[in-house]
Amino acid sequence: DAVELGKFRHYMQKEIFEQPQALAQTLELIAGGAGITPQHFGARAGEVFDGVRRVLVLACGTSYHAGLVARYWIESIAKLPVTVEIASEYRYRESVPDPDTLVVVISQSGETADTLAALKHAKALGMQRTLAICNVPESAIVRETALRFITRAGPEIGVASTKAFTTQLAAFALLTLALAKINGRLSAEDEERRLAALRHLPVAVQKVLELEPEIEQWAQRFAGKEHALFLGRGSHWPIAMEGALKLKEISYIHAEAYAAGELKHGPLALVDKDMPVIAVSPADELLEKLKSNLQEVRARGGELYVFADAGSEIPESEGVHILHMPEHYGMLSPVLHVIPLQLLSYHAALVKGTDVDKPRNLAKSVTVE
Ligand code: G6P
Repeated sequence: DAVELGKFRHYMQKEIFEQPQALAQTLELIAGGAGITPQHFGARAGEVFDGVRRVLVLACGTSYHAGLVARYWIESIAKLPVTVEIASEYRYRESVPDPDTLVVVISQSGETADTLAALKHAKALGMQRTLAICNVPESAIVRETALRFITRAGPEIGVASTKAFTTQLAAFALLTLALAKINGRLSAEDEERRLAALRHLPVAVQKVLELEPEIEQWAQRFAGKEHALFLGRGSHWPIAMEGALKLKEISYIHAEAYAAGELKHGPLALVDKDMPVIAVSPADELLEKLKSNLQEVRARGGELYVFADAGSEIPESEGVHILHMPEHYGMLSPVLHVIPLQLLSYHAALVKGTDVDKPRNLAKSVTVE
């Protein structure tokens, strides 16, 4: 293979550990004191963004989860309504087009057949304000859009996407700030504060990667399970979805993700001592709500694996295992919280002995429908 494994056992592990560098490269354009500008998205960005009233994100798989996180960011900071849709659904349904919508297609490969078709469908409906967020500069999707942002994750070989996902989130963070600035929603002070957090992100990710030994131990216990439930709230709900997807993809453990508030509307019936529940538990404004969901799980004998961060203050007790992440990272917290979930599924798959980089029945790039 052209890309060397070096000291790593699998490409997936290598790619997980490359995330600080992948993020630093993707965020290079704001290095030093550089501010945010629409031009980060292409020469015509000023004109394409001008008058945008809504955002529609189209994607598949892990890229779709990046879009779901972006919805929370763009709505709360840029104050634009956002819809995120699975490309294979959008392309075949009758939807209401709006020429003032910014259509964002997001794809690691830039070759996913459904995403490309969804983009062409949107254009055929008269939506010409299009932006690709993609990891491959010369790909089919990038050639079809008015604007582009190229993530610089480098080649991703493991079928389960890791570093592409976190760089997609970095791209969406920049897009959020660019749209907020154009809409007059970003003060100079806010811009500087948010850019500083972005610039520090690679270092923050590096610190989370150091938790690998603890996560490895959790994975040992996990590997014998047949089912797992992932819970999250707000912008961490899509992170729970991504954690469940990773676990399914490479360890073949059946995993489902729920918005924690939905627990009582169904999945609680599944909870017993054999159903581990993974809770993405950052110290954000939803934490108290989440804690009461966790008590409901405990009351039914469910074993909890809690990914907490600085300030989450959830005590360890019988059946409640806590992993403390070093910092709480505000808006960008989803970027940090996905890392231990990637590591958890990687190590669970190792214990099970599955083909981590090439899981059965899956392809890296799905270029046929
Ligand atoms: C496949 C891959 C996933 C990926 C999805 C979308 O299913 O296995 O890892 O998230 O395609 O791919 P894209 O290249 O469009 O991001």
